[in-house]
Amino acid sequence: MNYKFITAKEAAQFVKNGDTIGVSGFTPAGTAKAVTNEIAKIAEDEHAQGRPFQINILTGASTGDSCDGVLSRAKAIRYRAPYTTNSDFRKAVNNGEIAYNDIHLSQVAQEIRYGFLGKVDTAIIEACDVTADGKIYLTAAGGIAPTIARLADRIIIELNSFHSKAMMGMHDVFEPLDPPNRREIAIFKPSDRIGKSYVQVDPAKIVGIVEVDLPDEARGFSSADPLTDQIGQNVADFLVANIKSGCIPSSFLPIQSGVGNIANAVLGALGRDKTIPPFEMYTEVIQDAVIDLMREGRIKFGSACSLTVTNDCLRDIYSDMNFFKDKFVLRPSEISNNPEVIRRLGVISMNTAIEADMYGNVNSTHIGGSKMMNGIGGSGDFTRSSYISIFTCPSTAKGGNISAIVPMVSHQDHSEHSVNVIVTEQGIADLRGKSPSQRAKTIIDNCVHPDYKGLLKDYIRLSGKGQTPQSLAAALGMHDTLAKKGDMRLVDWGTYK
Ligand code: COA
Repeated sequence: MNYKFITAKEAAQFVKNGDTIGVSGFTPAGTAKAVTNEIAKIAEDEHAQGRPFQINILTGASTGDSCDGVLSRAKAIRYRAPYTTNSDFRKAVNNGEIAYNDIHLSQVAQEIRYGFLGKVDTAIIEACDVTADGKIYLTAAGGIAPTIARLADRIIIELNSFHSKAMMGMHDVFEPLDPPNRREIAIFKPSDRIGKSYVQVDPAKIVGIVEVDLPDEARGFSSADPLTDQIGQNVADFLVANIKSGCIPSSFLPIQSGVGNIANAVLGALGRDKTIPPFEMYTEVIQDAVIDLMREGRIKFGSACSLTVTNDCLRDIYSDMNFFKDKFVLRPSEISNNPEVIRRLGVISMNTAIEADMYGNVNSTHIGGSKMMNGIGGSGDFTRSSYISIFTCPSTAKGGNISAIVPMVSHQDHSEHSVNVIVTEQGIADLRGKSPSQRAKTIIDNCVHPDYKGLLKDYIRLSGKGQTPQSLAAALGMHDTLAKKGDMRLVDWGTYK
């Protein structure tokens, strides 16, 4: 098959008002970049001429500015799923301009297959190579590429020479059958492979290839600080204590780690603590800290959906593929985050909370109950099915005006039934085996900032008896006080009696 080489501008012409596009990638890693920029320009032109132009977007997870950013600013997005981290997108969602569906990342591909999310008109897939018989070799992420490429009416390939062809062979592409025909996902250790190294499509569906040389748009992280270091050390201490008590096998278990500064600090602490043996990861994203620990021999292998690393780190990986070729595998998100596999492998999950309540319910997504931050990402996929689920966060936010531990979360993503451990810089609350009241005591004693301990103990006194004691009038009193006075410490429980 001879493919047609076209410009990004020509490729964008395939996308019409009201269409649904599926975009490759997972986080800014492996996300198509050039065509979405041109779609934004079309939207701006159409709007300038008084014509409507908005599309629906399905992705693996967040994208870079050249997708979510430019399209949000061009007011070109009508509907989008799932996770995103873009600040312009966030503003538009919180202004009610975009319909945002925040789905567990492991479920996106299957919900597209089940028909829950409508038809995909165009798939835009970033590749490091494509063969005449329709084999697409993905770049730095698996995402939902196999599903959107198979189901879309047409495929546009962004052939990106920034990515090394050495990525051919690093993917394990597998799409499960749908119920009632689904079989087991036969991954018994993180390095098991069950699929092909490419996405196979009908070559006739590839309407054009856009050649680009564009770096990924992953952000760097601020360096660790004493607070994140303390949280990391507390997590490492907890895991070591569990190895010593026999709750975690001495050979250790695979780790899932979220993205961000705290996750980096936690990985750093796990790397430093030699009581923890060299370990494997069954996780969603590989970030710079994982690569450093692979080089130090502390991480033996990583199964993930994406290489969400800085471009310097990515260049280093590409120039040293002899070392890395047996160190990681990239999978579609429905496999990297698959609850069946996570439960079987006994993954220890570590994610970041925005706030938690004293009974162990966690909010990962909303500020003040109604404003979206990013989304649930893979935190639910891992938390619900893990061997031990850990949430970390600083005990306060905004200079101490906000306590991360509150009587009742203002929005709930992970329930008390799924959350095993909460860790702040103050300490560790091990919630396993405890009743709600026992959990509240442990969380207040170990995790709450000293400025808020007395206030939360007072709240417990006013909430009376019950399996999960709450005063419904006062439960959101700290949030209400923050909204009215700018500081949760000023809460007066008497107002809420
Ligand atoms: N109330 C109000 N604001 C709060 C808050 C609270 N309880 N806790 C934090 N914030 C604010 C911070 O002050 C910060 O504000 P700023 O942007 O104005 O500086 C913002 O929320 C983000 O906090 P930060 O501490 O910088 O967060 P982070 O980068 O560590 O991200 C999450 C934390 C929870 C937003 C992020 O981990 C996330 O999106 N998680 C959900 C998805 C997930 O877990 N993915 C991994 C699965 S593999």
